Amino acid sequence: MRKILFACTIALIFISIGFAAFQKAPWIVPPAEKARKNPLTASDANATAAKQIFLDHCANCHGDAGKGDGSDAMMYDPAPADLTDAARMSKITDGEVYYQITEGRKPMPSFKKRLTDEQRWQLVLLVRSFAGSTSAPPPAKNPDVPGDKKPEPPTSH
Ligand code: HEC
Repeated sequence: MRKILFACTIALIFISIGFAAFQKAPWIVPPAEKARKNPLTASDANATAAKQIFLDHCANCHGDAGKGDGSDAMMYDPAPADLTDAARMSKITDGEVYYQITEGRKPMPSFKKRLTDEQRWQLVLLVRSFAGSTSAPPPAKNPDVPGDKKPEPPTSH
């Protein structure tokens, strides 16, 4: 009995190591979630609310301006994403950003219980503004996303 338990423990450890490695893979979001549209539109009220939520819940990792350089950023592997990276963020739909904030992925926590739906959609608007675009990208058929060249950082400060 002991031996079986021991073997199971070892197996579990290996499975978790494998899983941890697997987690570095691209963030897979279910298609239905990807296709979701932001029910909110950009407005001063939403922007102000989102900014405060971001400073309270996200900035310690992602940095005040979303650059991924928050005060705790060094502690995490993988590092908090640079949300101002337009080339990368333009590949992600609003529904995907919403899903990522909702579910989290280690080390990023899930905000499903900590924030309301509306707050999470407000954050989607804010995340869009970091990367200099306010709307969802068109579906994948548009391959004209600029390659390596990083566009000018967003002007909002
Ligand atoms: C504990 C640190 C931490 C906190 C707090 C945190 N994040 Fe993250 N976030 C991360 C890490 C690390 C990643 C990269 C995860 C990965 O790629 O597996 C990430 C990824 C993301 C992504 C995905 C970007 C991409 O390129 O796919 C978004 C969007 C995001 N975070 C938004 C937020 C928002 C909004 C908040 C606040 C509600 C928040 N995060 C709070 C650490 C954090």
